[in-house]
This record gives sequence, structure tokens and C-alpha cells, in this order.
Amino acid sequence: MKAVAPVNDAPATTAWRPALAEAELWEGDMTPVVVGGTSVLLLNVDGEVRAYLNRCPHQEWALDEGEFEDGTLTCSRHLWEFDARSGGGINPADCALVSYRAKVEGGTIWVAVT
Ligand code: FES
Repeated sequence: MKAVAPVNDAPATTAWRPALAEAELWEGDMTPVVVGGTSVLLLNVDGEVRAYLNRCPHQEWALDEGEFEDGTLTCSRHLWEFDARSGGGINPADCALVSYRAKVEGGTIWVAVT
């Protein structure tokens, strides 16, 4: 797995925190973790790590209860779909996941959270 560019710009007050061993997130998988008290959903999208708040922007349903397939994350509650690489909405398009910067270093996945 390789380090990835930031999905968005996190505020300067955020700190890199260890989230999970790199070996525990296989390509095509997702897993929920708690990082610095925040529920975060980690996804391995074609070998790159993405990190999002584990809450759907619709009604805050836990996204890890949904499905992650072919680069699309689908919320199980009302089936809203998101691009797992960008966090942008697919259906509907005018929404987006809350994203965090993520990197892989020293065999660990790190996430920048407040
Ligand atoms: Fe996720 Fe409604 S809560 S689609």
C-alpha cells in the first residue's frame, strides 16, 4: 500500500494519529476505527487509503454498515452512494463525505484528526 495525497486540507490544529496496522486493511476492504475519539471509516481503494467520518451526511447512519464495492460506498440506510476515492456524492451528487488526511508510514495507517 502506498501513501496517498491528502483528500482535503485538514485544519492546522489536526495531528497525525495511528489508526490501524497497514496489513489489516486489504485492497477493497473497509473498516471502522476510533481515532482520537472520532469514529473514522478507513477504506483501501485500489491500494490507496482513504479516511472519512463514519457517519453518512444524510442522517448520520454508520457508513461501515453499508457496502464498499467497485470504488463506490453505499450507505445501508437509504442507499446514498459515494465515490470512495474522492468522498463526493454519486447519488445524490450534491453531497460529500467528511474526509480526513491519511497516510501509510512504518507499516501503520495514520489519520489526521483534531
Ligand atoms: Fe445514509 Fe440516509 S442515512 S442514506
